[in-house]
Amino acid sequence: MCNPTSNIITCKAAVLWGVGEAVKVEEIQVDPPKASEVRIKMLCASLCHTDILCCNGLPVPLFPRIPGHEGVGMVESVGEGVTEVKEGDIVMPTYVGECDKCDNCRSGKTNLCHTYPLPFNGLMPDGTSRMSIKVEGGKRENIYHHFTCSTWSEYIVIDVNYVVKIDPRIPLPHVSFMSCGYSTGFGSTWKEAYVHKGSTVAVLGLGAVGLGVIEGARTQGAARIIGVDINEKKREKGKVFGMTDFINPRDTNKPISELVMELTGGLGADYCFECTGIPAFVNEAMESTKVGIGTAVLIGAGKETSGAINFIPLLCGRTLKGTIYGGIKTKSDLPILFDKCLNKELHLDELLTHQVCLDEINKAFQLMKQPDCIKVVIKF
Ligand SMILES: NC(=O)c1ccc[n+]([C@@H]2O[C@H](COP(=O)([O-])OP(=O)(O)OC[C@H]3O[C@@H](n4cnc5c(N)ncnc54)[C@H](O)[C@@H]3O)[C@@H](O)[C@H]2O)c1
Ligand SMILES: [Zn+2]
Ligand SMILES: [Zn+2]
Repeated sequence: MCNPTSNIITCKAAVLWGVGEAVKVEEIQVDPPKASEVRIKMLCASLCHTDILCCNGLPVPLFPRIPGHEGVGMVESVGEGVTEVKEGDIVMPTYVGECDKCDNCRSGKTNLCHTYPLPFNGLMPDGTSRMSIKVEGGKRENIYHHFTCSTWSEYIVIDVNYVVKIDPRIPLPHVSFMSCGYSTGFGSTWKEAYVHKGSTVAVLGLGAVGLGVIEGARTQGAARIIGVDINEKKREKGKVFGMTDFINPRDTNKPISELVMELTGGLGADYCFECTGIPAFVNEAMESTKVGIGTAVLIGAGKETSGAINFIPLLCGRTLKGTIYGGIKTKSDLPILFDKCLNKELHLDELLTHQVCLDEINKAFQLMKQPDCIKVVIKF
Protein backbone atom coordinates (compact mmCIF):
# COMPACT_ATOMS: atom_id res chain seq x y z
CA MET A 1 0.00 0.00 0.00
CA CYS A 2 1.66 3.25 -1.13
CA ASN A 3 0.75 6.65 0.29
CA PRO A 4 1.12 9.01 -2.70
CA THR A 5 1.51 12.16 -0.61
CA SER A 6 4.52 11.04 1.38
CA ASN A 7 5.59 8.06 -0.71
CA ILE A 8 5.88 6.06 2.50
CA ILE A 9 4.89 2.43 2.04
CA THR A 10 2.85 0.61 4.68
CA CYS A 11 3.48 -3.12 4.50
CA LYS A 12 3.93 -6.30 6.51
CA ALA A 13 7.20 -7.43 8.05
CA ALA A 14 8.44 -9.92 10.65
CA VAL A 15 9.48 -7.87 13.67
CA LEU A 16 11.65 -9.11 16.50
CA TRP A 17 11.03 -7.34 19.83
CA GLY A 18 13.51 -9.02 22.18
CA VAL A 19 16.12 -11.76 22.72
CA GLY A 20 14.68 -15.23 22.11
CA GLU A 21 11.16 -13.98 21.39
CA ALA A 22 9.07 -15.20 18.48
CA VAL A 23 8.96 -12.76 15.56
CA LYS A 24 5.60 -11.01 15.03
CA VAL A 25 4.22 -10.16 11.63
CA GLU A 26 3.28 -6.49 11.98
CA GLU A 27 2.33 -3.51 9.87
CA ILE A 28 5.34 -1.26 9.43
CA GLN A 29 6.19 1.82 7.41
CA VAL A 30 9.06 1.96 4.97
CA ASP A 31 10.42 5.38 4.01
CA PRO A 32 11.27 6.29 0.43
CA PRO A 33 14.90 5.77 -0.59
CA LYS A 34 17.26 8.71 -0.04
CA ALA A 35 20.17 9.59 -2.34
CA SER A 36 22.22 6.48 -3.22
CA GLU A 37 19.46 4.19 -1.90
CA VAL A 38 17.01 1.74 -3.43
CA ARG A 39 13.60 0.58 -2.21
CA ILE A 40 12.94 -3.06 -3.07
CA LYS A 41 9.70 -5.04 -3.16
CA MET A 42 10.77 -8.43 -1.86
CA LEU A 43 9.72 -11.41 -3.98
CA CYS A 44 11.38 -14.25 -2.12
CA ALA A 45 13.56 -14.62 0.98
CA SER A 46 15.02 -17.50 2.95
CA LEU A 47 16.27 -18.38 6.42
CA CYS A 48 19.95 -18.80 7.18
CA HIS A 49 21.15 -20.34 10.43
CA THR A 50 22.65 -16.93 11.26
CA ASP A 51 19.09 -15.50 11.45
CA ILE A 52 18.48 -17.75 14.45
CA LEU A 53 21.52 -16.16 16.06
CA CYS A 54 20.07 -12.73 15.26
CA CYS A 55 16.86 -13.72 17.05
CA ASN A 56 19.05 -14.55 20.04
CA GLY A 57 20.49 -11.06 20.02
CA LEU A 58 23.70 -11.71 18.07
CA PRO A 59 25.94 -10.11 16.99
CA VAL A 60 24.37 -7.06 18.70
CA PRO A 61 21.01 -7.06 20.56
CA LEU A 62 19.12 -4.28 18.79
CA PHE A 63 15.31 -4.16 19.03
CA PRO A 64 12.84 -3.82 17.46
CA ARG A 65 14.56 -5.33 14.47
CA ILE A 66 13.57 -7.08 11.25
CA PRO A 67 15.77 -10.13 10.64
CA GLY A 68 16.60 -11.76 7.31
CA HIS A 69 19.64 -11.32 5.08
CA GLU A 70 18.86 -13.77 2.26
CA GLY A 71 16.49 -12.75 -0.49
CA VAL A 72 15.69 -11.30 -3.87
CA GLY A 73 13.29 -8.60 -4.98
CA MET A 74 12.29 -6.05 -7.58
CA VAL A 75 13.35 -2.40 -7.49
CA GLU A 76 10.25 -0.36 -6.57
CA SER A 77 11.95 3.06 -6.62
CA VAL A 78 15.40 4.59 -6.51
CA GLY A 79 16.78 7.62 -4.67
CA GLU A 80 18.48 10.65 -6.15
CA GLY A 81 21.58 9.91 -8.20
CA VAL A 82 21.04 6.15 -8.49
CA THR A 83 21.89 4.97 -12.01
CA GLU A 84 23.11 1.41 -11.36
CA VAL A 85 19.58 -0.05 -11.19
CA LYS A 86 16.11 1.14 -12.16
CA GLU A 87 12.49 0.45 -11.25
CA GLY A 88 11.51 -3.10 -12.22
CA ASP A 89 15.03 -4.59 -12.10
CA ILE A 90 15.39 -7.90 -10.25
CA VAL A 91 18.05 -7.47 -7.57
CA MET A 92 19.78 -9.27 -4.72
CA PRO A 93 20.35 -7.31 -1.52
CA THR A 94 23.77 -8.18 -0.10
CA TYR A 95 25.52 -7.42 3.17
CA VAL A 96 29.04 -7.06 1.75
CA GLY A 97 29.86 -4.18 -0.60
CA GLU A 98 32.72 -3.82 -3.07
CA CYS A 99 34.07 -0.35 -3.88
CA ASP A 100 36.97 -1.60 -6.00
CA LYS A 101 39.12 1.30 -4.73
CA CYS A 102 39.98 0.75 -1.05
CA ASP A 103 43.15 -1.06 0.05
CA ASN A 104 41.24 -4.26 0.78
CA CYS A 105 39.33 -4.30 -2.53
CA ARG A 106 42.54 -3.65 -4.45
CA SER A 107 44.53 -6.26 -2.50
CA GLY A 108 42.76 -9.12 -4.28
CA LYS A 109 42.98 -10.97 -0.94
CA THR A 110 39.58 -10.32 0.63
CA ASN A 111 35.95 -9.44 -0.01
CA LEU A 112 35.75 -7.24 3.09
CA CYS A 113 35.64 -3.70 1.75
CA HIS A 114 36.55 -0.71 3.96
CA THR A 115 34.16 1.64 2.15
CA TYR A 116 31.07 -0.60 2.30
CA PRO A 117 31.61 -2.85 5.34
CA LEU A 118 29.29 -5.41 6.92
CA PRO A 119 27.35 -3.14 9.31
CA PHE A 120 26.51 -4.35 12.83
CA ASN A 121 24.76 -1.19 14.08
CA GLY A 122 21.39 -1.94 12.43
CA LEU A 123 21.36 1.39 10.59
CA MET A 124 21.80 2.71 7.07
CA PRO A 125 25.26 4.13 6.22
CA ASP A 126 24.01 7.64 7.21
CA GLY A 127 23.24 6.37 10.74
CA THR A 128 19.44 6.35 10.46
CA SER A 129 16.71 3.74 9.82
CA ARG A 130 14.18 3.64 6.98
CA MET A 131 11.64 1.49 8.84
CA SER A 132 9.28 2.37 11.68
CA ILE A 133 6.28 0.99 13.55
CA LYS A 134 3.38 2.51 15.47
CA VAL A 135 3.68 1.84 19.21
CA GLU A 136 1.56 2.69 22.27
CA GLY A 137 0.23 6.22 22.33
CA GLY A 138 0.27 6.40 18.53
CA LYS A 139 3.99 7.28 18.50
CA ARG A 140 6.34 5.83 15.87
CA GLU A 141 9.40 3.85 16.84
CA ASN A 142 12.29 3.24 14.45
CA ILE A 143 13.09 -0.35 13.58
CA TYR A 144 16.68 -1.58 13.25
CA HIS A 145 17.83 -3.18 9.98
CA HIS A 146 19.57 -6.58 10.08
CA PHE A 147 23.03 -6.10 8.56
CA THR A 148 22.16 -4.03 5.47
CA CYS A 149 19.01 -5.86 4.54
CA SER A 150 16.09 -7.10 6.74
CA THR A 151 14.70 -9.30 3.98
CA TRP A 152 11.72 -10.59 6.01
CA SER A 153 9.76 -7.51 5.04
CA GLU A 154 7.54 -6.88 2.02
CA TYR A 155 9.61 -3.76 1.27
CA ILE A 156 13.17 -2.82 2.23
CA VAL A 157 15.47 0.14 1.66
CA ILE A 158 19.15 -0.51 1.05
CA ASP A 159 22.19 1.47 -0.09
CA VAL A 160 22.73 0.84 -3.83
CA ASN A 161 26.32 -0.20 -3.18
CA TYR A 162 24.96 -3.36 -1.52
CA VAL A 163 22.65 -4.24 -4.43
CA VAL A 164 23.45 -6.68 -7.24
CA LYS A 165 21.40 -6.83 -10.45
CA ILE A 166 20.15 -10.29 -11.34
CA ASP A 167 19.43 -12.01 -14.65
CA PRO A 168 15.67 -12.67 -14.37
CA ARG A 169 16.19 -16.16 -15.85
CA ILE A 170 17.68 -17.31 -12.52
CA PRO A 171 14.96 -18.87 -10.34
CA LEU A 172 14.17 -16.61 -7.37
CA PRO A 173 14.88 -19.21 -4.63
CA HIS A 174 18.29 -19.86 -6.22
CA VAL A 175 19.17 -16.16 -5.98
CA SER A 176 18.00 -16.14 -2.37
CA PHE A 177 20.24 -19.12 -1.49
CA MET A 178 23.21 -17.50 -3.25
CA SER A 179 22.78 -14.33 -1.19
CA CYS A 180 24.32 -15.98 1.89
CA GLY A 181 24.60 -19.61 3.07
CA TYR A 182 25.27 -21.57 -0.11
CA SER A 183 27.66 -18.98 -1.61
CA THR A 184 29.50 -18.71 1.70
CA GLY A 185 30.26 -22.43 1.53
CA PHE A 186 31.06 -22.46 -2.18
CA GLY A 187 33.20 -19.34 -1.96
CA SER A 188 35.21 -20.64 1.00
CA THR A 189 36.72 -23.33 -1.21
CA TRP A 190 37.21 -21.00 -4.17
CA LYS A 191 38.14 -17.60 -2.73
CA GLU A 192 39.47 -18.42 0.76
CA ALA A 193 41.16 -21.83 0.84
CA TYR A 194 41.92 -22.14 -2.90
CA VAL A 195 41.16 -25.88 -2.85
CA HIS A 196 43.48 -27.54 -5.37
CA LYS A 197 42.86 -30.28 -7.90
CA GLY A 198 43.22 -33.77 -6.50
CA SER A 199 43.07 -32.62 -2.87
CA THR A 200 41.18 -34.05 0.10
CA VAL A 201 38.54 -31.90 1.76
CA ALA A 202 36.61 -32.47 5.01
CA VAL A 203 33.39 -30.59 5.79
CA LEU A 204 31.92 -30.42 9.30
CA GLY A 205 28.16 -29.79 9.14
CA LEU A 206 26.13 -30.29 5.97
CA GLY A 207 23.53 -27.53 6.04
CA ALA A 208 23.27 -25.15 3.07
CA VAL A 209 26.74 -23.83 3.94
CA GLY A 210 28.39 -27.27 4.15
CA LEU A 211 26.64 -28.46 0.98
CA GLY A 212 27.94 -25.29 -0.74
CA VAL A 213 31.43 -26.25 0.45
CA ILE A 214 31.02 -29.72 -1.07
CA GLU A 215 29.85 -28.25 -4.39
CA GLY A 216 32.70 -25.72 -4.39
CA ALA A 217 35.28 -28.40 -3.58
CA ARG A 218 33.97 -30.63 -6.38
CA THR A 219 34.09 -27.68 -8.82
CA GLN A 220 37.68 -26.90 -7.73
CA GLY A 221 38.61 -30.51 -8.58
CA ALA A 222 38.99 -32.06 -5.11
CA ALA A 223 39.43 -35.82 -5.41
CA ARG A 224 37.98 -36.73 -2.05
CA ILE A 225 35.30 -34.87 -0.13
CA ILE A 226 34.46 -36.16 3.35
CA GLY A 227 31.19 -34.90 4.82
CA VAL A 228 30.58 -35.04 8.59
CA ASP A 229 27.12 -34.69 10.12
CA ILE A 230 25.06 -36.19 12.94
CA ASN A 231 21.97 -36.09 10.71
CA GLU A 232 21.85 -39.39 8.81
CA LYS A 233 19.74 -37.76 6.05
CA LYS A 234 22.85 -35.86 4.97
CA ARG A 235 24.50 -39.13 3.87
CA GLU A 236 22.44 -39.12 0.65
CA LYS A 237 22.11 -35.32 0.30
CA GLY A 238 25.87 -34.82 0.46
CA LYS A 239 26.43 -37.30 -2.39
CA VAL A 240 24.26 -35.22 -4.74
CA PHE A 241 26.67 -32.30 -4.29
CA GLY A 242 29.81 -34.42 -4.76
CA MET A 243 30.62 -35.88 -1.32
CA THR A 244 32.64 -39.08 -1.64
CA ASP A 245 32.68 -40.24 2.02
CA PHE A 246 30.35 -39.66 4.98
CA ILE A 247 31.06 -39.79 8.70
CA ASN A 248 28.30 -39.77 11.30
CA PRO A 249 30.16 -39.01 14.57
CA ARG A 250 27.26 -40.54 16.52
CA ASP A 251 28.29 -43.98 15.20
CA THR A 252 31.38 -43.96 17.46
CA ASN A 253 32.84 -42.25 20.54
CA LYS A 254 35.92 -41.09 18.68
CA PRO A 255 36.55 -37.40 17.96
CA ILE A 256 35.87 -36.24 14.41
CA SER A 257 39.55 -35.49 13.72
CA GLU A 258 40.46 -39.09 14.56
CA LEU A 259 37.76 -40.38 12.18
CA VAL A 260 39.03 -38.13 9.38
CA MET A 261 42.61 -39.28 10.06
CA GLU A 262 41.49 -42.93 9.83
CA LEU A 263 39.84 -42.28 6.45
CA THR A 264 42.93 -40.51 5.08
CA GLY A 265 45.61 -43.05 6.01
CA GLY A 266 46.64 -41.09 9.11
CA LEU A 267 47.61 -37.96 7.12
CA GLY A 268 44.49 -35.85 7.37
CA ALA A 269 42.72 -33.67 4.83
CA ASP A 270 44.32 -30.82 2.91
CA TYR A 271 41.41 -28.57 3.90
CA CYS A 272 38.71 -28.72 6.54
CA PHE A 273 35.70 -26.38 6.70
CA GLU A 274 33.85 -25.84 10.00
CA CYS A 275 30.16 -25.26 9.18
CA THR A 276 28.34 -26.17 12.43
CA GLY A 277 29.04 -23.16 14.67
CA ILE A 278 30.21 -25.43 17.52
CA PRO A 279 33.23 -23.64 19.10
CA ALA A 280 35.19 -26.81 19.97
CA PHE A 281 35.05 -27.87 16.31
CA VAL A 282 37.59 -25.19 15.39
CA ASN A 283 40.18 -27.47 16.96
CA GLU A 284 38.62 -30.58 15.40
CA ALA A 285 38.81 -28.85 12.00
CA MET A 286 42.49 -27.98 12.46
CA GLU A 287 43.35 -31.45 13.75
CA SER A 288 41.55 -33.02 10.77
CA THR A 289 44.09 -31.44 8.40
CA LYS A 290 47.60 -32.39 7.35
CA VAL A 291 50.51 -31.35 9.51
CA GLY A 292 52.57 -28.56 7.92
CA ILE A 293 50.21 -27.74 5.04
CA GLY A 294 46.61 -28.19 6.23
CA THR A 295 44.15 -25.30 6.16
CA ALA A 296 41.09 -25.08 8.41
CA VAL A 297 38.42 -22.52 7.52
CA LEU A 298 36.06 -21.27 10.21
CA ILE A 299 32.64 -20.48 8.71
CA GLY A 300 30.21 -21.52 11.44
CA ALA A 301 29.04 -19.03 14.03
CA GLY A 302 27.16 -19.94 17.20
CA LYS A 303 25.78 -18.47 20.41
CA GLU A 304 29.24 -18.84 21.89
CA THR A 305 31.51 -16.44 20.08
CA SER A 306 34.77 -17.55 21.64
CA GLY A 307 36.57 -20.75 22.59
CA ALA A 308 40.05 -22.03 23.39
CA ILE A 309 42.32 -22.69 20.42
CA ASN A 310 44.71 -25.65 20.72
CA PHE A 311 48.10 -24.19 19.93
CA ILE A 312 49.93 -27.44 19.16
CA PRO A 313 48.14 -28.28 15.87
CA LEU A 314 48.45 -24.63 14.85
CA LEU A 315 52.15 -24.53 15.75
CA CYS A 316 52.60 -27.60 13.58
CA GLY A 317 52.31 -25.48 10.46
CA ARG A 318 48.58 -25.47 9.84
CA THR A 319 46.65 -22.39 8.78
CA LEU A 320 43.44 -21.31 10.49
CA LYS A 321 41.33 -18.85 8.54
CA GLY A 322 37.95 -17.22 9.05
CA THR A 323 35.55 -15.96 6.43
CA ILE A 324 32.52 -13.78 5.86
CA TYR A 325 30.47 -14.75 2.80
CA GLY A 326 33.16 -17.19 1.67
CA GLY A 327 35.43 -14.41 0.45
CA ILE A 328 33.04 -13.73 -2.44
CA LYS A 329 33.22 -10.23 -3.88
CA THR A 330 29.70 -9.19 -4.71
CA LYS A 331 30.47 -7.33 -7.93
CA SER A 332 33.41 -9.34 -9.32
CA ASP A 333 32.70 -12.90 -8.17
CA LEU A 334 28.92 -13.29 -7.96
CA PRO A 335 28.43 -13.00 -11.77
CA ILE A 336 30.66 -16.10 -12.14
CA LEU A 337 28.41 -17.98 -9.73
CA PHE A 338 25.29 -16.73 -11.55
CA ASP A 339 26.68 -18.09 -14.85
CA LYS A 340 27.26 -21.47 -13.22
CA CYS A 341 23.67 -21.35 -11.98
CA LEU A 342 22.33 -20.52 -15.46
CA ASN A 343 24.46 -23.34 -16.92
CA LYS A 344 22.83 -25.70 -14.39
CA GLU A 345 26.21 -26.59 -12.87
CA LEU A 346 24.92 -26.05 -9.31
CA HIS A 347 22.45 -28.16 -7.32
CA LEU A 348 20.50 -25.25 -5.88
CA ASP A 349 17.14 -27.02 -6.38
CA GLU A 350 18.33 -29.66 -3.91
CA LEU A 351 18.45 -27.05 -1.14
CA LEU A 352 14.78 -26.05 -1.38
CA THR A 353 12.88 -28.32 0.99
CA HIS A 354 10.17 -26.09 2.51
CA GLN A 355 8.19 -23.00 1.66
CA VAL A 356 6.06 -20.66 3.82
CA CYS A 357 4.37 -17.29 3.39
CA LEU A 358 5.43 -14.34 5.58
CA ASP A 359 2.48 -14.85 7.96
CA GLU A 360 3.79 -18.37 8.69
CA ILE A 361 7.32 -17.22 9.52
CA ASN A 362 7.29 -18.81 12.99
CA LYS A 363 6.43 -22.15 11.40
CA ALA A 364 9.66 -21.77 9.42
CA PHE A 365 11.70 -21.89 12.65
CA GLN A 366 10.03 -25.20 13.52
CA LEU A 367 10.59 -26.57 10.01
CA MET A 368 14.31 -25.79 10.31
CA LYS A 369 14.51 -28.32 13.16
CA GLN A 370 13.23 -31.16 10.95
CA PRO A 371 15.92 -33.56 9.77
CA ASP A 372 14.90 -33.30 6.11
CA CYS A 373 15.00 -29.49 6.10
CA ILE A 374 17.78 -27.64 4.31
CA LYS A 375 16.24 -24.34 3.28
CA VAL A 376 12.92 -22.67 4.05
CA VAL A 377 11.84 -20.14 1.48
CA ILE A 378 9.51 -17.24 2.33
CA LYS A 379 7.23 -16.35 -0.58
CA PHE A 380 5.76 -12.85 -0.58
N1 LIG B 1 30.79 -16.92 8.01
C1 LIG B 1 29.73 -16.61 7.29
O1 LIG B 1 29.75 -15.67 6.48
C2 LIG B 1 28.48 -17.41 7.44
C3 LIG B 1 27.47 -17.32 6.48
C4 LIG B 1 26.34 -18.15 6.61
C5 LIG B 1 26.23 -19.00 7.69
N2 LIG B 1 27.22 -19.03 8.63
C6 LIG B 1 27.16 -19.97 9.75
O2 LIG B 1 27.47 -21.26 9.20
C7 LIG B 1 26.86 -22.28 10.00
C8 LIG B 1 26.06 -23.21 9.10
O3 LIG B 1 24.93 -22.54 8.58
P1 LIG B 1 23.75 -23.40 7.91
O4 LIG B 1 22.70 -22.41 7.49
O5 LIG B 1 24.31 -24.36 6.93
O6 LIG B 1 23.25 -24.17 9.22
P2 LIG B 1 22.41 -25.52 9.38
O7 LIG B 1 21.88 -25.49 10.75
O8 LIG B 1 21.48 -25.66 8.24
O9 LIG B 1 23.51 -26.68 9.24
C9 LIG B 1 24.32 -27.11 10.28
C10 LIG B 1 24.60 -28.60 10.10
O10 LIG B 1 25.48 -29.02 11.14
C11 LIG B 1 25.06 -30.28 11.61
N3 LIG B 1 25.55 -30.51 12.98
C12 LIG B 1 25.03 -30.00 14.13
N4 LIG B 1 25.70 -30.49 15.19
C13 LIG B 1 26.65 -31.33 14.69
C14 LIG B 1 27.65 -32.13 15.30
N5 LIG B 1 27.80 -32.20 16.62
N6 LIG B 1 28.45 -32.85 14.49
C15 LIG B 1 28.29 -32.81 13.13
N7 LIG B 1 27.36 -32.08 12.52
C16 LIG B 1 26.55 -31.34 13.28
C17 LIG B 1 23.53 -30.21 11.53
O11 LIG B 1 22.95 -31.51 11.52
C18 LIG B 1 23.33 -29.46 10.21
O12 LIG B 1 23.23 -30.34 9.11
C19 LIG B 1 26.01 -21.55 11.05
O13 LIG B 1 26.77 -21.46 12.24
C20 LIG B 1 25.82 -20.16 10.43
O14 LIG B 1 25.57 -19.19 11.42
C21 LIG B 1 28.33 -18.27 8.52
ZN1 LIG C 1 36.49 -1.46 -1.03
ZN1 LIG D 1 23.56 -16.05 6.37
